[in-house]
Amino acid sequence: MLVLGIESSCDETGVALYDTVVGLRSHALHTQVEMHAEYGGVVPELASRDHIRRIVPLTRRVLDEVGVSLAAVDAIAYTQGPGLAGALLVGASFAQGLAVGLGISAIGVHHLEGHLLSPLLADPRPEFPFVALLVSGGHTQLMQVDGVGRYTLLGETLDDAAGEAFDKTGQLLGLPYPGGPEISRLAQQGDAFRYPLPRPMLMSSDLDFSFSGLKTAVLNLVHKHPDARREDVAAAFQAAAVDVLASKALKALKQTGFCRLVIAGGVSANTLLRSRLNAEVARVGATVYYPPLALCTDNGAMIAYAGAQRLVADALPSDGVFTVRPRWPLSQLQAA
Ligand code: KG4
Ligand code: ZN
Repeated sequence: MLVLGIESSCDETGVALYDTVVGLRSHALHTQVEMHAEYGGVVPELASRDHIRRIVPLTRRVLDEVGVSLAAVDAIAYTQGPGLAGALLVGASFAQGLAVGLGISAIGVHHLEGHLLSPLLADPRPEFPFVALLVSGGHTQLMQVDGVGRYTLLGETLDDAAGEAFDKTGQLLGLPYPGGPEISRLAQQGDAFRYPLPRPMLMSSDLDFSFSGLKTAVLNLVHKHPDARREDVAAAFQAAAVDVLASKALKALKQTGFCRLVIAGGVSANTLLRSRLNAEVARVGATVYYPPLALCTDNGAMIAYAGAQRLVADALPSDGVFTVRPRWPLSQLQAA
């Protein structure tokens, strides 16, 4: 079966075509990063308008690239939430309208389920069950994943998300938005030990996180040492954030007794996080899995894939219900 996937929850328009027999056929993405950069963050109204401009040409490109006509598509998966209401509505109305016109199903997908399952698009792919560390701009969660739709929250951030902390630190250092990739790049030339920063909740017995104190610590550092090299501050921040993420992910593996760890969401592109986890997870005899690098940040492929899993499992939401859910806890999702 062929599933078209549409992602429009924030500042990326993603479209993809997933074939349940042969895998991902094609995907295309337009990022709005440059458009929002001058405002230092995403401007919701501009995001919605740009999704409207991009969604049709991207869909055409994805189909044309592999010579597939719309008539051959079996279902259309779209991000139903969480995300920006206006941005979600663009993808949802496009997908619903197209599905009604073609007489096929529209499948509302949870954005985080898309991220969570995205490592299954890589080779090798993890078997269920696994522990997933979801680290994006809006979320930082450790989940126990027993199957499609069978998710148990193990721990989460009590305040800022990891990606948000990267972005805010980037802003503080005068780096362009989004800060994550910029901090990661600068940190390579920095000394992570020059300015010691706190590791919030590193020693807490639970699997929760807190990043807002770390952000404040960076702010204090910059005020106290106005001449500090940005490279050193970036390296110190990244080391502290990665320390906490890696140690809690390992604790989750130990607590569940699982031997597979999956990292997904934009921050999973971070090279220090990857190298730390590769080394430490191997040391405890477990394996770590990531999405393909191009599919770490928001994209249509993960939405097409998650929709396809629900189609195959015959676990579709009731058709014709046209809603978006800007706030949507993953724990409210039903099993496939
Ligand atoms: O998953 P994503 O594309 O969007 C959300 O669902 O939020 O994640 C975006 C986040 C941003 O905060 C961005 O700064 C961060 O992922 N990010 C990174 C890196 N690449 C993207 N953070 C750290 N290191 C990176 N290499
Ligand atoms: Zn995302």
